[in-house]
Amino acid sequence: MWLNSVVSLLPLAILALALPSKDCEHQVKEAVVPPRGWTIFGPAPPDHIIKLRIALPQSNFRALEEQLYAISDPYHERYGAHLTKEEVEELVAPHPESVDSVTDWLSSHGIGEGDISRSPAGDWLTIKVPVSVVETMLDTKYHIWKHTASGEYIVRTTSYSLPKNLLEHVDLIQPTTMFGTFRKLKSTIHSVTAADSQIQSQHSPPIVDLATGVTVDASCNTTITITCLKEIYNAVNYTPSAHVGNSVGITGYLGEFANRADLQTFYADQVPAAAAANSTFNFISVAGGLDPQDPDDAGGEANLDVQFAFGLSFPVPSTFYSTAGSPPFIPDSGTPTDTNEPYTDWLDFILSHPNPPLAISTSYGDDEQTVPESFARRACAGFAQLGARGVSLTASSGDGGVGDGDPDPATQECLTNDGQNRTQFIPGFPASCPFITAVGGTVFFPERAVSFSGGGFSNYFARPAYQDEAVKGFLKALPKGTYSGLFNPNGRGIPDVAAQSDFFRVFIGGKPFSIGGTSASSPTFIGFVALLNDGRLKKGLPSLGFLNPLLYSKAVSGFNDITTGHNPGCGTEGFNATKGWDAVTGLGTPDFGKLLKLVT
Ligand SMILES: *[C@@H]1O[C@H](CO)[C@@H](O)[C@H](O)[C@H]1NC(C)=O
Ligand SMILES: *[C@@H]1O[C@H](CO)[C@@H](O)[C@H](O)[C@H]1NC(C)=O
Ligand SMILES: *[C@@H]1O[C@H](CO)[C@@H](O)[C@H](O)[C@H]1NC(C)=O
Ligand SMILES: *[C@@H]1O[C@H](CO)[C@@H](O)[C@H](O)[C@H]1NC(C)=O
Repeated sequence: MWLNSVVSLLPLAILALALPSKDCEHQVKEAVVPPRGWTIFGPAPPDHIIKLRIALPQSNFRALEEQLYAISDPYHERYGAHLTKEEVEELVAPHPESVDSVTDWLSSHGIGEGDISRSPAGDWLTIKVPVSVVETMLDTKYHIWKHTASGEYIVRTTSYSLPKNLLEHVDLIQPTTMFGTFRKLKSTIHSVTAADSQIQSQHSPPIVDLATGVTVDASCNTTITITCLKEIYNAVNYTPSAHVGNSVGITGYLGEFANRADLQTFYADQVPAAAAANSTFNFISVAGGLDPQDPDDAGGEANLDVQFAFGLSFPVPSTFYSTAGSPPFIPDSGTPTDTNEPYTDWLDFILSHPNPPLAISTSYGDDEQTVPESFARRACAGFAQLGARGVSLTASSGDGGVGDGDPDPATQECLTNDGQNRTQFIPGFPASCPFITAVGGTVFFPERAVSFSGGGFSNYFARPAYQDEAVKGFLKALPKGTYSGLFNPNGRGIPDVAAQSDFFRVFIGGKPFSIGGTSASSPTFIGFVALLNDGRLKKGLPSLGFLNPLLYSKAVSGFNDITTGHNPGCGTEGFNATKGWDAVTGLGTPDFGKLLKLVT
C-alpha cells in the first residue's frame, strides 16, 4: 500500500514537463464525509492564515521499510545496524520531479522559495497562506465548522483538488479534511481520584504469584509505585547508568505540562536516590510549547508520564517535549489564527534532531477513523524513520476496550464516520501504526487484563509480517463468526504488549492522586525499555530501536502471558485475554530479568 515506487513516477515526469501546472485541470485529491458532530458555522474569513503542510511522496520508502525490518530482526545479520539521520533522509527524499512540479505550482500562485519551509529530507513543505489563496490553489471552499458537543471551531474543507499533473507528486495537504484536532487528541487517562497522603501500610503478607513465584508487596494490589513495578516486572536491584549514552523521552501535547516540583515530591515518596540527587528532566519546547511551573498548570497526564517513565529509569538522562497545540479558532474575534495538526510538529522537530532519545513514550491518541488515512500513513512513516535510527516508540492502546472510549454522550459510540453509521470496533491511532509498540493495560497482582484496555484491529494498516503467526493463532481460536463485520481480521492487531494501568500513585500540584488508564502503561513499558537499552549499551551493543520484530520472535519468552480478563465495548463483551497474543494485552507484560538475558 505504500505509495509511489520510483518506476511509477517516470511517465509522469514527461506529463509534468508538457503542461504548466496552473493551466492544468483540477481533479479531486481527497474528499471526506463531514464527521458526526461537526456542522458548518459559516464561511471561512478570506484573510484567516492557514499553515499549510504539503507532503511529497517519499519515493524510496519501500527501501527504508526493508532496511528497517532487516535491522530490527534479531536473527538478521544486520540487527542493530541503525541508520544515520542522513541515510534516512536520503531514503525518504522526494523524487526531484515532485519537488520541481510542486515548487512551480507554488510559484504560479506567488509563493516563492523564501515563503517555503522544507523538512531536512525535503518531503514536507510548509507555507503560511490566507484562506483566499488556499481556496484558489486547491479549488475548494473552506468553512468554519463547529463541534456541537464541545463548542470548538475549526477551519476545514471536506474536499480539495489539485491540478491533474500534480496528483502523483503530492501525498497529502493538511489542514484540509482532518477533523480530528486537538480536542479529539485524547490523553488516555481513564480515572483520577485523590489518594491518601501516605500509602496505606499493609499488614497483610506479600502476594505470591504461585505460577511464577514472583513476590509483591500487598499494597501493590491497590496502589502502584515504582517499587511495585520493579517487583511485578522482576527488575528489583537493577542499577542503570547515567553515563553510557542512554536516554528516554516523553511527549506532551494539549497543554499538558510536567511539573518539576511535583517530580521532586514523587521522588521523595518513591525514588529516594533520585530525590537526593535533585534529578530532573531536560525540557524541550516544540513549535512554541510552553513550560509553566505554577502548581495549577501541572498536567495529570504529563506528570504521570514523567514520574513513572523517569522514576523507573533514573538516572538515565530524560527529556520532556512540550508541543504547542494551536489556539482554538474563535470565529468572531476577526483574528487570523494558525492551525496545525497533531504529531507533525513533533515529528518535524524530532526527525531534524541529531540525537533523539533512544526510547520515547506517547500517551495521546485519537480514533483512527478521525485521522484521514493519508495523514495516518505519513505520520506512521515518520515513526518508521525514527525506528530506523534506533529509537523505540511506544503508545497507549486507548481506554475504550474495543470501542472508541468517547465519554461524550452526544456522539454515539462505535459508529463509522463514513456517512453510513455502521457499528464497528474503533481502533486508536497512533497505536494502530505498525512501527509503534502499542501498550495495553493490566490490573492487580497476579495480573489480569483491565477492562478498558484498548484492543482490536486497524482499518488502515494491514497486519505486519512480524505478528502474522501470533495474530492468526488468536483469530483461529475465536468461536466461528465472532463479531463478524465489527472488525477487520486482516488489520494490524493491537496492542503488542501490556503493563499495569490502574491505581498509579502520582503527584499533581503537590498532592497525591490515584490515576488509571493505558496512559500509565506506555510510560511504564518505556521505563523498562530504557533499562534494557542500559544493559545493551553497557555491553557495547546498539540500542533496541524498533521493538516489534524482536518482541514477537526472540523475546516472546520474556513476557508474562496474561490469560484472564476481557475488554468490553460497543455493546459487546470485547475480546478475551488468551494464551499467546490477544487483542487485549498483546504478548503480555514484561519480565525484565528474562528480557535482559534475551537481549544482552
Ligand atoms: C487484589 O484485588 C482484587 C480486587 O479487589 C481482589 O479480587 C484480589 O483478591 C486481591 N488480591 C490479593 C492477593 O489481595
Ligand atoms: C538539592 O536541592 C536542595 C534545595 O535546592 C539543595 O539544598 C541540595 O544541596 C541539592 N542537592 C544536590 C545533591 O544537588
Ligand atoms: C448518520 O448519522 C447522521 C447524524 O447522526 C445522520 O445525519 C445521517 O443521516 C446518518 N446516515 C445514515 C446513512 O443513516
Ligand atoms: C470469551 O470467553 C468466554 C468464556 O469462556 C466465552 O463464552 C466467550 O465466547 C469468549 N469470547 C470471545 C470473543 O472469544
